[in-house]
Amino acid sequence: MSEIDSLKAQLESLQADALNAFAAAENLNALQQLRVQYLGKKGALTEVLKGVGKLPPADRPVIGQHVNATKSALAAGLDACETTLAEKEKIARIEAERIDVSLPGRTKGKGALHPVQNGLDEISTIFSQMGFVVAEGPEIEDEFHNFDALNIPPEHPARAMHDTFFVKEMGNGEKSEPMLLRTHTSPVQIRTMKRFLAEGGEPPLAVVAPGRVYRCDYDVTHSPMFHQVEVFKVDRDVSMAHLKGVLKHFLSTYFEKDVAIRLRPHYFPFTEPSAEVDIGCVFCAGKGCRICKGSGWIEVLGSGMIHPNVLQSVGIDSEEFSGFAFGLGVERLVMLKQGIPDLRLFFENDVRFLSRMGVNK
Ligand code: PHE
Repeated sequence: MSEIDSLKAQLESLQADALNAFAAAENLNALQQLRVQYLGKKGALTEVLKGVGKLPPADRPVIGQHVNATKSALAAGLDACETTLAEKEKIARIEAERIDVSLPGRTKGKGALHPVQNGLDEISTIFSQMGFVVAEGPEIEDEFHNFDALNIPPEHPARAMHDTFFVKEMGNGEKSEPMLLRTHTSPVQIRTMKRFLAEGGEPPLAVVAPGRVYRCDYDVTHSPMFHQVEVFKVDRDVSMAHLKGVLKHFLSTYFEKDVAIRLRPHYFPFTEPSAEVDIGCVFCAGKGCRICKGSGWIEVLGSGMIHPNVLQSVGIDSEEFSGFAFGLGVERLVMLKQGIPDLRLFFENDVRFLSRMGVNK
């Protein structure tokens, strides 16, 4: 074979090899290496060109054309492969970065209202809607508001029955007075009536007073701190019938069904007559079950007509005005409504209980 034919053959096989290699390149990086390998300064084409110098001068332009053709064939091949690979890599990158927009979002853990707080809100709201005004009083009370003004004089046995937590005496010297954690919300009756009259008010007065109370007690149905809602109304001609009507409306609204109620004669120093109020068992509809101990009735609150001594203690004429009052345990009502078996669950702060029974608003 002549020198020139041999060079032509070398160029042809180089071109074929190169185009195959370009097509087989797996990525742009590999392709770049092939570019250097074939077209670089020390590449395969340069290697073949070294042979051109040995040709007789007349043959050189001929082979020159072949070399140029090979060069542009390789350049075109490289360009084509580069475009394909670039496109492939782009798709691969998009594929890798794909996000599933149909996935549910990751939300932050949401807080919930404690079931007791929710109960307080629900109960207060029902009474607000009936026109009762919300009032509050201090949790650290004096004996006058917690007992004396409520017709519970010092020697009264009810005073001992209240399992009172006494706190350090407040004030100094002669004026120091024993203080206590209020054992019920009834002192708010006294404070609110006094304030109302001091501001020049005159009955009618209708109040709902939610709040924390304290008694030295701890078991399945008692906690040393619990919540009560006190409700009272003072006006001319207020009777037991009003008391019963308000109770029936409240309890049926709270339990979201028509609950039966029953007033049982009872004794409270601050009401006369007094009654304990039962509701028809919300679990067995009065048939008798474990919760109502077979009786069909569940005791829910204490009530009565405000004792004339209580009205007199704040300066309301008990000949002209009368009133009803009742006090209910919030935990007890929430337990009955939500089917919670143990009152202590409310205060153990177990997140499993709180997230199950907490209320999202
Ligand atoms: N204060 C009473 C208690 O805690 C409840 C009550 C309030 C009873 C108002 C009658 C009237 O037991």
